[in-house]
Amino acid sequence: MLRGMGSHDEQDGAPGTVRDRLIGLGAGSIRKSYYPELRQRLEELDRMHGYLVSVLDAMPSAILGVDATLRVTRANRAAAALAGLSRGELEGRLLGDAFPALRAPLAGAALAVAQGRALERHAAEAEPETPGAAPGPRYYDIIVSPIEAGRSAVVRLDDVTDRVRLDRLIVQTEKMVSLGGLAAGMAHEINNPLGGILQGAQNIQRRLEPDRPENRQAAREAGCTVEAVRDYARRRGILRFLDGIRDSGSRAAAIVRHMLDFSRGGETRRAPYSLARVVDEALALASRDFGLDRQAGIRRPAVERRFAPDVPEVLMSRTEIEQVVFNLVKNAVEAMNEAGVPEPRLVFRTRVEGRFAVLEVADNGPGMDEETRRRVFDPFFTTKEVGQGTGLGLSVSYFIVTTNHGGEFVVDSQPGRGSRFIIRLPL
Ligand SMILES: Nc1ncnc2c1ncn2[C@@H]1O[C@H](COP(=O)(O)OP(=O)(O)O)[C@@H](O)[C@H]1O
Ligand SMILES: [Mg+2]
Repeated sequence: MLRGMGSHDEQDGAPGTVRDRLIGLGAGSIRKSYYPELRQRLEELDRMHGYLVSVLDAMPSAILGVDATLRVTRANRAAAALAGLSRGELEGRLLGDAFPALRAPLAGAALAVAQGRALERHAAEAEPETPGAAPGPRYYDIIVSPIEAGRSAVVRLDDVTDRVRLDRLIVQTEKMVSLGGLAAGMAHEINNPLGGILQGAQNIQRRLEPDRPENRQAAREAGCTVEAVRDYARRRGILRFLDGIRDSGSRAAAIVRHMLDFSRGGETRRAPYSLARVVDEALALASRDFGLDRQAGIRRPAVERRFAPDVPEVLMSRTEIEQVVFNLVKNAVEAMNEAGVPEPRLVFRTRVEGRFAVLEVADNGPGMDEETRRRVFDPFFTTKEVGQGTGLGLSVSYFIVTTNHGGEFVVDSQPGRGSRFIIRLPL
């Protein structure tokens, strides 16, 4: 059946019946001689031809016959739909021109045809087409099977994006579920000793304060003054070390708090609330918390709010979604600042998409490479230095959006092109 697909005998792709063509080739005399058996055979051939075309058209996969130069000789209906061309436009084109986004994964196909080898690529990532199209990369299974070495081959393309996404989602969910239990236990275990460290450091600081009567009394009994002890502690850097202990301790406590957020799921209260208001509140929080609009060295990003007017209120835990937006703002500001983007910009968009309310947070920062993008939602994944990043911001946010709100959370980013986080919350 596939032999026919790779053959060169149909120039214009207009599939006349086999019998017509035989007549055209001078077989009319055969017809005139009217051998009933031959006539029957020709009709059978016609039926078979029609049947094969229907079989190929009924397949959900894109199936194409190509010649040795990867020029399309035949295409089924799915192939034309995938290319966004009519069958007539598709046939005669080079495979790479018909599917420009698949040029990279198709590299090596010509050699495979020449050598009569099969080529298989699974879940190959297509190059992003027009920016602003459906977010996220698309994935294809590609199989090039030679028909005749050096002459022709059949190519099968399947869009497996949904499957790839689902696979990743499952892996991600499993990670989150196992982390949820672990985090709760760990956080409680760490909390107690951490509290001890912080309280101890605070007590030491208190006991070095000159105006407390108990301190003066103890110093007198020891034959010195609190001022002298304090002076010694300052000269030896002890006061600085104490500040350091409390600083690091507070950071560790913040991490523990984040981890507890994992396990808390579900018990928070939900009410209808406006996405636009959450964004405003998160921005206010951000400017208080890390000086979005004042701290020296942090360039204040321009903020654009593009809120669609028709977005209804969404049933949500307000504080949780605020925490998610806050995390996104913080990450974007950190990334833009780190990269020294001259005119940092944050764009917030809301809109309705089917049964979802969508919130997008986009920055014009450095973006992320493939490897980073794949892992941003992983717990403890960070590209920041120790003490700077915990790698928990996005994983906690992911948990809040998906598990706690039944929503979706994806990222679209490329190096040098900024990052765009897309949150979909069910209406
Ligand atoms: N807007 C962004 N632009 C570029 N990279 C980002 C952005 N947001 C997140 N990232 C990447 O994702 C990683 C994980 O983020 P997150 O989970 O918040 O942890 P953390 O901020 O503590 O590193 C960051 O270390 C960074 O590499
Ligand atoms: Mg972060």
